[in-house]
Amino acid sequence: MIIASNFKTNYTRAKTDDFVIAIQDFMRTTRSKQQVRIYAPATALDLFDEIPSLHVGAQNFYPTQNGSYTGEIGFEQLEEFAIDTVLIGHSERRHILKESQDLIAQKFNFAQAKNVEIIYCVGEPKEIRALGIDAVMAYIWEQFEGIDINYERLVIAYEPVWAIGTGLTASDDDIKEVLGRLDEKLSAPLLYGGSVKVDNIKEILSIDKCSGVLVGTASWSVEAFSSMIQAADNLEKQ
Ligand code: PGA
Repeated sequence: MIIASNFKTNYTRAKTDDFVIAIQDFMRTTRSKQQVRIYAPATALDLFDEIPSLHVGAQNFYPTQNGSYTGEIGFEQLEEFAIDTVLIGHSERRHILKESQDLIAQKFNFAQAKNVEIIYCVGEPKEIRALGIDAVMAYIWEQFEGIDINYERLVIAYEPVWAIGTGLTASDDDIKEVLGRLDEKLSAPLLYGGSVKVDNIKEILSIDKCSGVLVGTASWSVEAFSSMIQAADNLEKQ
């Protein structure tokens, strides 16, 4: 399974380094079988001594190799640290940073041409959820405009906007329904994200078609994130 942590705008370079080392040690000691991803802030990227199943990735980049885009980070800056996995389409970038579907598709195409793993995030806001599942799916499919769903290094994260950072998790039935509908048209692994925590990860990972989780808030402690990796290992042993 894929167990991913999104640090968002948290952690310094030094704290990120400690976190990555601690998780690596944990995975080595427990011989974890999980694919773990840690999306660190851009200032904390580094050439980590990664183990094959743990990769530190980028939360964001501008779709350019380099150039004159003041304040942005291009692929040259990611390649310096051998970054092989990126997040695209996260709801905070769509809604707070106002990224358009057009820019998101440009980023996707750029990352695809670079052949890096893409965790592509989709999900509906509260007012769309209130209209029912057909409205939810129509909204989500629009978020695939300009996206090559057949890209072989694509992973999809279904993250309802109203569940992100709010402590509210979608119900198991709602997650199952959305993942099931996505799976009818997509062959990529499907993750769930939105207030995943130690207490609910087992239940969420047990949902049909769920291949992992993308976790924000609850992953920001080594102890909690290790417990989540352990929960996935335990589940696979059952
Ligand atoms: P959360 O964030 O776990 O804090 O809800 C999830 C995400 O933004 O990917």
